[in-house]
Amino acid sequence: MAEWTLFDWAGGLPALTRMTRLFYSKYVPEDPLIGPLFASMSPDHPERVAAWLGEVFGGPKNYSDRYGGYTRMVSQHLGRGLTEEQRARWVALLCRSADEAGLPRDPEWRAAFVAYLEWGSRLALENSQPGAKPPMNMPVPRWWWVCDATPGSRVSALAPPSDEPGAAALPESTERVTFEAHIRPLFRRTDRQSMLFAFDLWNHADVVRHAAEILSRLENGSMPCDGAWPRERVDIFRRWVESSMPA
Ligand code: HEM
Repeated sequence: MAEWTLFDWAGGLPALTRMTRLFYSKYVPEDPLIGPLFASMSPDHPERVAAWLGEVFGGPKNYSDRYGGYTRMVSQHLGRGLTEEQRARWVALLCRSADEAGLPRDPEWRAAFVAYLEWGSRLALENSQPGAKPPMNMPVPRWWWVCDATPGSRVSALAPPSDEPGAAALPESTERVTFEAHIRPLFRRTDRQSMLFAFDLWNHADVVRHAAEILSRLENGSMPCDGAWPRERVDIFRRWVESSMPA
């Protein structure tokens, strides 16, 4: 999950184009504040904006390759004297189009999407003011999940009860505790996904590297985030740590 780009999670270029076409064909023309701004836009403007967004969200560099990249995009806002009301309406209607076009509604994707629209539209507003001199040769920005919060990086409150830990039998008190037989099965798929942005709970080397921190979180009950482990499970993890953490 940690590897998804915002572009892929959105549904790629088809989804972004669906959204921009809806925006420029349905919402923009009938809006008195921003409609006039786009009255003479080029017929492929929706595709151009989708290509820009796709590139920003980690997709192919279509806008740079086909339409002129950063310099072209910035030049299109120069001298337009946009107002804050127009900017805010542009963002609001694009978000409405995203909903209607079926783009993801999950908190992680939407937070990143809206953060970019707020940032980018405020730059467009700034660049459009009289006398503005934005740098003309910057790279196209690349946007990412907010605070690395990727899909699956938290346990959803609506998730069905997931695979329970401890599928393997707990070791006897004299038995040697090993990662493969006893420790790895303690971590659920959900636990693993929640932590993949930092390390892999199903990987021996990763767990060894972070063992002290994991143990302290298990002991104070702050991990897993949806409920502390019973004492005997924490004890097994501690026994493993104290016995040099064999694979
Ligand atoms: C994140 C925010 C924004 C992005 C990503 C964006 C993207 C773009 C791009 C890529 C172009 C150039 C398309 C081409 O190659 O011709 C463009 C042009 C333009 N943008 Fe923006 N824009 C943003 C915000 C805004 C806002 C807030 C407004 C006004 C309320 C606005 C008004 C315009 C106008 C009027 C054009 C020229 C359209 C034409 O006549 O061809 N943009 N925008």
